[in-house]
Amino acid sequence: MGFVTVEQAARILKRGGVVAVPTETVYGLAADATNRRAIKKIYTVKKRPQDNPLICHFYSYESAEKYVADVPSYVNVLAEKFLPGPLSLLLNLRANSPLLPATAGRNNVIIRIPDHTVFKKLLKELDFPLAAPSANTSGKYSSTNAEMVEQDLGNKIDGVIDGGQCKVGIESTIIDCRKKSEIRILRQGAVGADEIRRAVKRFAVTVKEKGSSKETTPGSRYKHYAPRTPVYEINTPDEIKETKSPFSVLVLKEQLPAVRLWMKEHYPSSAKNIIVLGSVKNEKQIAKNLYKCFHRLDGMKTSAAYLLKTDFGKSSVGKAIAERLKKVVLHL
Ligand code: TXA
Ligand code: MG
Repeated sequence: MGFVTVEQAARILKRGGVVAVPTETVYGLAADATNRRAIKKIYTVKKRPQDNPLICHFYSYESAEKYVADVPSYVNVLAEKFLPGPLSLLLNLRANSPLLPATAGRNNVIIRIPDHTVFKKLLKELDFPLAAPSANTSGKYSSTNAEMVEQDLGNKIDGVIDGGQCKVGIESTIIDCRKKSEIRILRQGAVGADEIRRAVKRFAVTVKEKGSSKETTPGSRYKHYAPRTPVYEINTPDEIKETKSPFSVLVLKEQLPAVRLWMKEHYPSSAKNIIVLGSVKNEKQIAKNLYKCFHRLDGMKTSAAYLLKTDFGKSSVGKAIAERLKKVVLHL
């Protein structure tokens, strides 16, 4: 369909269409959260399993409050501190909620208040919230600019709002806030456990990171974040045993000089296929680049890619990158 303005998008969404929208994390594929037919289109376009519920986006936390029930008091503090922003909250829904089409019939919902001027302007023009999973074919990495969306889904959707490159580049942190005494992190993102702990210090609530339990989001059961090209994690370039076909290498800036030399010597025909993810000293930049690098990788049309094993550190973004790569990489 092509690029549309906020005004055009609002009109399309009111009629039950689907439009890709920019957020600070990744692009979303939006539809009226209360319109069963519109929601159905999202599932069809993305080829998303029917039992996988959708995050609902609101203009402000205040405008989301009328949909949720039994909200623990620490949630107000989290909203005050982090919203709008890349922290999504799993809460109980009120009975007979108009949002049931978006939650795959569940009696709970993940609410998100995006921090992106253009998306906020759109939400302000609508009197319904927008259900929006990431704007990508199910299983694939998320899109972080409008061209990526256009290439993946362009001919199947009613429009894309171009809001530039996403600032964060990886999906929001998701936390389960349904219990008074425990906050569970279901998906890592730019807002980390330590910041959340600090914010809710005066409440009798523990913040549990993922890993301590099998409990997670339905979506994490499925394949995720992956480029079409298989990515193998290696400890040293010597593990590469390609004989004929050209391949690609994903490296950090710090690894580049050595890897480039090594490639020129051993695999000169693949030496041009080196993609730099960013600097190990700047994990935020790596997060911002990650899916764009996957997109470049697929554009190279090589038969495989190699990624040197890297420790992304203990920061929230570092952990979020590691969580995603873990689902992507294969081992030789
Ligand atoms: O940053 C983001 O959160 C982006 C942008 C577009 O806002 N959205 C996003 O949506 O990443 P999606 O659908 O790609 O990932 C949402 C995850 C999925 O794993 C889904 O299973 C889970 O959240 N989820 C959604 N609603 C849920 C619910 N009611 N209960 C449990 N998990 C839920
Ligand atoms: Mg997704």
